[in-house]
Order: sequence, then structure tokens, then C-alpha cells
Amino acid sequence: MSTEKDIDILAIESSCDETAAAVVRNGREVLSNVISSQIDLHKLYGGVVPEIASRKHIEKINQVIWEALDTAGKTLDDVDAIGVTYGPGLVGALLVGVAEAKAISYAKKIPLVGVHHIEGHISANYIENPDLEPPFLCLVVSGGHTHLVVVRDYGMYEIIGRTRDDAAGEAFDKVARAIGLGYPGGPKIDALSKEGNGDAIHFPRAKIEDAPYDFSFSGVKSAVLNFLNGCQMKGETVNRADVAASFQKAVCDVLVDHAMQAVGDYKIKKFAIAGGVASNTALRAAFEAACEKNGVKFYHPSPVLCTDNAAMIGAAAYYEYRAGVRHGLDLNAVPNLKLGER
Ligand code: KG4
Ligand code: ZN
Repeated sequence: MSTEKDIDILAIESSCDETAAAVVRNGREVLSNVISSQIDLHKLYGGVVPEIASRKHIEKINQVIWEALDTAGKTLDDVDAIGVTYGPGLVGALLVGVAEAKAISYAKKIPLVGVHHIEGHISANYIENPDLEPPFLCLVVSGGHTHLVVVRDYGMYEIIGRTRDDAAGEAFDKVARAIGLGYPGGPKIDALSKEGNGDAIHFPRAKIEDAPYDFSFSGVKSAVLNFLNGCQMKGETVNRADVAASFQKAVCDVLVDHAMQAVGDYKIKKFAIAGGVASNTALRAAFEAACEKNGVKFYHPSPVLCTDNAAMIGAAAYYEYRAGVRHGLDLNAVPNLKLGER
């Protein structure tokens, strides 16, 4: 039996349009995970409106934190550290979480640990997979990022591939808007695709010369828009489910193809996915099959831990805390924070 004291971390996430707080024990056990989503507000505008996001975070953050503590049966006096996302993201949104975390840290003298949002997404995999330890390869696919990352150790990341233009989630959102599905597009394309044929229309699968792990999604997005325009000009009705399924298949094919090439080249036998797009059912099924074929163990968080949440920030904060990372009250929001920077 371990004699080490449990480390309970209060985690805060406010980088985009979810106000979230969680209490996580020893990086892996979620005692509470509260998410207040602003999606209904932003969908009126077809996307996240930064000013509205910041204001809503201010309104909600205290309530969300109290609920997270309450559900976990904790008070601020029981918390060993505060983890907070300080980048990348919308600067006004990030500032709300960072200011809140600093205020609590100062008032209660609790150590402060700033967390990179993508490190949070990757760490979501630790929560439900007690056996997962670095090294492993992780594909991070969110609304703002598409990265292939070698996780060398806790807190040690090597980005081996990235998108040259749109992020995968951004492409989902833009295509969804074009076919009239509204925001956020990913889950809607996922659902509609189940009624369509993914082989109905061939959309391009981009490869980048001399950069086998990089991605480009602007071509597939333009191809969908051109296809829709062509149908409109010819007066043809569009089968939206076929368009959604064919687009989704094109994106999944590229993600799986590049990730499996990296797994082979780097001889890594553990592969994980992370980020909002990682909750896509077709993508999960495709990786399940590809990993089995390649003899690789496949890890993925539950859908609620794929999209933005604070439990993943608590998981990441734990390993940063263990590595001795402590931030001062000069911690600032860094909208373009690079992975691996401290
Ligand atoms: O990780 P996340 O919540 O926020 C960012 O850090 O960006 O990811 C949000 C993105 C959005 O683009 C959303 O459309 C996409 O994840 N997404 C999905 C699905 N659920 C969310 N994309 C495809 N299929 C889904 N089921
Ligand atoms: Zn995210």
C-alpha cells in the first residue's frame, strides 16, 4: 500500500466557450467535473463570440467552482493545488480563469500551476486508462489544433506533425455551416453521416510533400463548397447526409493514415486521441480498426472528456505539480502559448 499523501487539485478551464471546474485526485481520479456550456448563446451567431464568452465566464465561474468543490465533498482548505489553463485560447476568456485561480491561490495560499490547454487534452487519456504511461503517440484534434505529438514523458512533448491551415474541428464546423447544420458542426456532421454514404462523393485527401505527418484541410473544405455550388448551379438537390458522410470519411482517412504512418516510423505501440473531434464516432471506429490491424493499443477518452473540460486540466496539472512546477501571481494568459513551454 502506498503511503504517499493524496494530491487533490482544483482545476479551472475557461479558454473558449465552456466554463469548467473539477477536482481531480492524483491526476487520474475525477472527484467532480462541472461544465457550464455557452453553446446555446454562441450558436445564434454561428460561432464563438469572444466578448460574449468572457462575460459569460465571469458570470458563471464562481458558481461552477463551488459546485465542483461541493460535489467532491471538499472545501478550498482541502485543496493541494490549483491548476488553470493559461493558454492557448481566447485571451479574454483565459484571463477570467487565470484571474480567478490567482485570487484563490493568493487568498488561501494554495500553490498555483498553469496548464497548457493541449497538455490538458492529451492528459484526458490518463483519467480512464490507469495503465497508460508515456511514451505514446497522441493525435490532438480540436477546434483550434491538429497536432501529432510524441509524448516522451509526462510534460515532455515533441510535435511531429501539424495542420498547415484549418484545424480538423474548424473544417467540420465550416462544412456544417455550408450544408446548413449550424454550430457546433462536428457533432451534427457526426450524427447526419450515419444516414449517408461515405463513398458517395470522393473528396480529396491531402498529402504534403516531405512532411508525411502534416495535415491540410482547406482543400477538402473547398471541395465540399465547390460541390455544393455546382449542385446549386445545375439545380440538383443535394443529399446532405452523403455530403456529410463523404467529407467525414475524407478527414478520417487522412487522420488515420498519417497517424498510423507515424506509429510505424516511431515504433510506438501505444496510440491515443484527444480533443473535441476525438469524440467523432467514425474516427474512433476507424482508429479502433487501424490500431488492431497494426498491433497498437488504442486509447481514447470518453466523449465528455474529449471536448473542453476541467478534469483534463486537473490531470495535466498533477504531473506538472509533481515535476515541481509552481506559477507566481504574475501568471498571465498567453493566447498563443506553445506546447512544452513553462
Ligand atoms: O476540444 P474542443 O472542445 O475545443 C477546442 O479546444 O477547440 O473541440 C471543439 C471542436 C469543434 O470544432 C467541434 O465541432 C468538434 O470539436 N467536435 C466534433 C465532434 N464533437 C465536437 N467534431 C467531429 N465529431 C464530433 N462528434
Ligand atoms: Zn480544447
